Amino acid sequence: MSFYSKKVMDHFMNPRNVGYIDHPDGVGQVGNPICGDMMTFYIKVHNNRIIDVKFQTFGCAAAIAVSSMASEMVLGKTLDEVQKLTNEDVAQALDGLPKNKIHCSNLGANALHKAIQNYKLKMKNKKEI
Ligand code: FES
Repeated sequence: MSFYSKKVMDHFMNPRNVGYIDHPDGVGQVGNPICGDMMTFYIKVHNNRIIDVKFQTFGCAAAIAVSSMASEMVLGKTLDEVQKLTNEDVAQALDGLPKNKIHCSNLGANALHKAIQNYKLKMKNKKEI
């Protein structure tokens, strides 16, 4: 039996939305202090919705699966909806993670929330110019 759920294995072996966006509207990067892994999310926003999302993750299988699942969960969602997304939501959508890999799920929603903060800051700065 696999250490990981079928969904984790699927998202690890065939990650969705890998890459980066040229001229993104927002970028969010987080690192995991426990292992040193890094996750970066790039978003495009239109009418307050995520219309494109890509990620680059340098990390373990769980971190890559978390990034991939999180990217699918937020595509087409409003910024408010994405801000309500929790790391637990992403782990649950993957049918859970092994206990010693729960910390890996702490990157996904956090990186997306940071990308939204970055987008909002850019919008604010644009208005002030
Ligand atoms: Fe680093 Fe999983 S071991 S994020």
